[in-house]
This record gives sequence, structure tokens and C-alpha cells, in this order.
Amino acid sequence: MQTASAVDYDYLRRLVFSLSHNVLDSSRDYLFDTRLTRVLRSQGMTQLEELIAHLKLRKNPILERSVAEAMTINETSFFRDGRPFELLRAELLPRLIESRRLSRTLRFWSAACSTGQEAYSLAMLLVEHFPQLAAWNIRIEGTDICAEVVERAQAGVYHRIEMNRGLPARSVVRYFDHVGEDWVVKPEIRKLCNFRQANLCTSTLPFTRPDERFDVVFLRNVMLYFAQEARRPLLASVHKLLAPDGLLFLGSSEQPADPSIWSAVLAGGTCHFRPRQPS
Ligand SMILES: C[S@@+](CC[C@H](N)C(=O)[O-])C[C@H]1O[C@@H](n2cnc3c(N)ncnc32)[C@H](O)[C@@H]1O
Repeated sequence: MQTASAVDYDYLRRLVFSLSHNVLDSSRDYLFDTRLTRVLRSQGMTQLEELIAHLKLRKNPILERSVAEAMTINETSFFRDGRPFELLRAELLPRLIESRRLSRTLRFWSAACSTGQEAYSLAMLLVEHFPQLAAWNIRIEGTDICAEVVERAQAGVYHRIEMNRGLPARSVVRYFDHVGEDWVVKPEIRKLCNFRQANLCTSTLPFTRPDERFDVVFLRNVMLYFAQEARRPLLASVHKLLAPDGLLFLGSSEQPADPSIWSAVLAGGTCHFRPRQPS
């Protein structure tokens, strides 16, 4: 354990903020000691002071990004906070499916997808409850700033402990193959999902084309780590990317930064948001 006086944690906090907009509280500086062990090892270093001195001396965007990514909180689970999924199943998806019956296209975005459980939960929900969508064009995009979790999402391989969190036993056997100690997402589910690395706090989001509008966006449990000033532009960009009748789900403790462009809808014991159109 390194002493607080020797390590310039303030430099590390500012570095993380500048790259990911994640605000780290100084009371949790000890997290740098544990989370940056692998970054240190990859550089042949043992002390945070060495890393900080190295970063201060010369610009190294790749190493800086590794530091910011290592400090992200990647906590997630299948069907996390189940109510949004239940509401989609019972009410919202039947309506969306009816209104998209001519285009037969539905697009979902799990923004800040971590290791992919949110995206795969959506895919399982669609396959299980809406078999008529088999002939539709369905895309579930998953993005995250952290390369390591995106790789894990792409692989779709989960340990027993991750499977035990939120997945009913019948879904485990129906949608996963048991390989050694792990469970691997079956191709039927995997093929609906596409994962890539993307930072939500840059001036351009990973999707910009007007024909890439989303029907449902999950932006859950990530804005709580952002500074207030990062939330407003992000939600304004998400607003532009949603179809006029699209749906936004935030984490249960999160709110849109600018309520004037969103209508909050309370239903199914949860809250979701619809984009307000300019009058
Ligand atoms: C707590 S997880 C939430 C995962 C999932 N949405 C859920 O609710 O279960 C937060 C994720 O946000 C990602 N993240 C943090 N800052 C980000 C940024 N600036 N751009 C994109 N993703 C970010 C982290 O890497 C992490 O995987």
C-alpha cells in the first residue's frame, strides 16, 4: 500500500475525468492502488509514482486510456433491475412492434453495456416472447468505453457466478451452451448483438446517421459516475438518436439532465423517458 503523500492521486483523478468524465472521489483514492496493478505490470512498473512520473513526462494516449478504463466500474447482471424488461415485454414492445410492422426493423442500444449482459437480456427477451420478430431486422448495439469489457461482451462467455445473477434456470439451458466451467451465449442470441468500444463523453457519439435512429436506448447506471456538465450534452445527443416514439431507460437513481426535452412516464413500477418533440 502506498502512502497518500507520495502519490499524486489528484493527477490521476484529473486524468480519468478528462478521458471518461468519471468523477472519482478522493475518499476512494485507494482504488487506484488496486485497479492499476495490471497497468503497472504491463509497463514493468511496481509503483504508482513511477507511472505518474512517466505520464507527466511524455504524452502517451494509449497508456492514459488504459488508466481511465481500469478505473471504470463494470458492475452489471442479466435482467438487472428487472422492471424495465418486464414493462417492455408486457406493454411497450407489443406497441412498438405494431407501429414498426411495415419497416420490420427494431434497433436497440445498450450504451455503457459493460460485459454484455444487458444487451443479451434484451436479445433473450425478444427471442422468447416475440417469435414473430425472427423474420425482422433486429439490431442490438452494445458500446462501452472499456476495451476489456467489450471483448468479454463480444465473446459472450460467462462464469457460473455471473449466470446465477438474474438468469432463470430455464434461460440458462435454453440460451447458453455449457463449456467447461463457463456458459457461452448461443448463436441465436449472439447474432442479434453487436459490440464495440465507444466513449459517451466525446463530441460525437458512435452512431450519427439519421437512418440509425434507435427505438430503445438503455443508458443505465453510467451517468451517475459523470459530472453534471457531461450529462446534458450526452442526453441531448441521445435525444437526436431516438425515434420520435422511441424509449429511453436510465438507471433507477438517474434522471435526464434537461427535463424539458423528455417526458417521464411512470409505468410498471419504473420510470422511462420519451423524447419531447419541439413544438
Ligand atoms: C456500472 S456499469 C453499467 C452496465 C449496464 N448498463 C448496467 O446497468 O448493468 C457502467 C459502465 O459504464 C462504462 N463507462 C463509464 N464511463 C463511460 C464513458 N465515458 N463512455 C462509455 N462507457 C462508459 C463503464 O466502463 C462500465 O462498463
